[in-house]
Amino acid sequence: MTSIGIIGTGKMGSGLGRVWAAAGHQVFFGSRDADKAKALAAEVGAGLQGGTFEQAAEFGDIVLLCVPGFTAEETAQELANVVRGKALIDLTNVMSQTGFGLFVGTTTSMAEIIAHHTGAKVVKAFNTIHVLNLANPVIDGLRADVYYCGDDDTAKSLTKQLIIDAGFEPVDCGPLQAARYLEPLAGLWIHLAFGMGGKRETAFKLLGR
Ligand SMILES: NC(=O)c1ccc[n+]([C@@H]2O[C@H](COP(=O)([O-])OP(=O)(O)OC[C@H]3O[C@@H](n4cnc5c(N)ncnc54)[C@H](OP(=O)(O)O)[C@@H]3O)[C@@H](O)[C@H]2O)c1
Repeated sequence: MTSIGIIGTGKMGSGLGRVWAAAGHQVFFGSRDADKAKALAAEVGAGLQGGTFEQAAEFGDIVLLCVPGFTAEETAQELANVVRGKALIDLTNVMSQTGFGLFVGTTTSMAEIIAHHTGAKVVKAFNTIHVLNLANPVIDGLRADVYYCGDDDTAKSLTKQLIIDAGFEPVDCGPLQAARYLEPLAGLWIHLAFGMGGKRETAFKLLGR
């Protein structure tokens, strides 16, 4: 059982929180509005907690950052003193305000920027999965991939287990620098699903022999 602090109670934060709580993990929902997080915690399950971003970050052995991309850097900086040295999953996407195009990339990534500002053991993960897939990660008999990367082995092991517990296939993409590839990959998914009117319940799968 892992203690997970969730920063942001939107679609991904509440969705993954539900999934991990059902898998037996201790979840603390953090919100800009502590009452909203407490109500969500009470609704999701007995024994779960809710409060501020800071309280959630303090609670977690691992912290999930799931705020909009445009505020990810600022929010992480505000929590730096609490998350320093902790495992932190960054699932934010750096999509520009139009929803298409990236505002960070090629020579760095949001995950690296967050690691630099906070000193947290950052793992990029779950950013290439759409929220609709959380309900059923198996499509046509294939388990959807969750790509993850990071520089700290312990943080990566914790993340790998949480990916498995959410029902996805973990794919280790190596060091945190690989987030420079994972962040644009989410852009491709958004382009296909929203820009080209594709299916929403789609996910990436790495094939090989
Ligand atoms: N939706 C998806 O399918 C999906 C998939 C993969 C990755 N992502 C990425 O995951 C992140 C969260 O996505 P989401 O769909 O869960 O978004 P969302 O539903 O809009 O939720 C984001 C949450 O972040 C908090 N927030 C909003 N504005 C903020 C601000 N200015 N400062 C600090 N916190 C703020 C809010 O939580 P509180 O109200 O609790 O404060 C809000 O509910 C984004 O970076 C997104 O690109 C999304």
